Amino acid sequence: MKLFIDTADLKEIREIASWGIVEGATTNPTLLSKQEGHPHDILREICEIVKGPVSAEVVSQDHEGMVREARELAKIHEHIVIKIPFGIEGLKAVKQLSGEGIKTNVTLVFSPSQALLAARAGANYISPFVGRLDDISNDGMEIVAQIVEIFNNYPDIETEVIVASIRHPMHVVEAALLGAPIATIPPKVFRQMVKHPLTDIGIERFLKDWEKVKDRMK
Ligand code: G3P
Repeated sequence: MKLFIDTADLKEIREIASWGIVEGATTNPTLLSKQEGHPHDILREICEIVKGPVSAEVVSQDHEGMVREARELAKIHEHIVIKIPFGIEGLKAVKQLSGEGIKTNVTLVFSPSQALLAARAGANYISPFVGRLDDISNDGMEIVAQIVEIFNNYPDIETEVIVASIRHPMHVVEAALLGAPIATIPPKVFRQMVKHPLTDIGIERFLKDWEKVKDRMK
């Protein structure tokens, strides 16, 4: 499973990309609204850092507006992928953009039927939101399992699933166990994935024991 970073915070992206494990990034209007500066400059910088697909979302409500916005966003950098909110207008926009060779990521997907429609419209990626489903007492990961199974049933579907709205490391582990191709992970969860108390205790013990050997090294 590839790991994308789910933020528009350049400092965080630079830091976590330096670990060598980030292959793409996802943003949305909420994430960009939290940062200073022109959103297009931020998106360009993210593309330069991650050197992989970077999702940038349209805010138009109609397909003509979405397509216009998408063409502008696509000019920012070759890595830009256009995030299109799921809906009938979104499906029309995806179809049009796929014909123009502009990559799309259909977002706000909450059901397998939505995922299938987006795939058939020609989306390169779809983003089911697991955390927001869990928040309303639904099983977000069950939806991901169904989508992955459906896509695997039809090899002509090339759409990749990006598991989004991840809230904790177990969401990442469960997504990987299901064979989801990509998870987009907030910086906080990346840091939680690093930690294990036994690793910290182990390092502390190795260093302490090595102190006893140090004198013999002189
Ligand atoms: O990539 C989508 C993600 O940012 C949504 O996450 O935590 O706002 O549900 P959240």
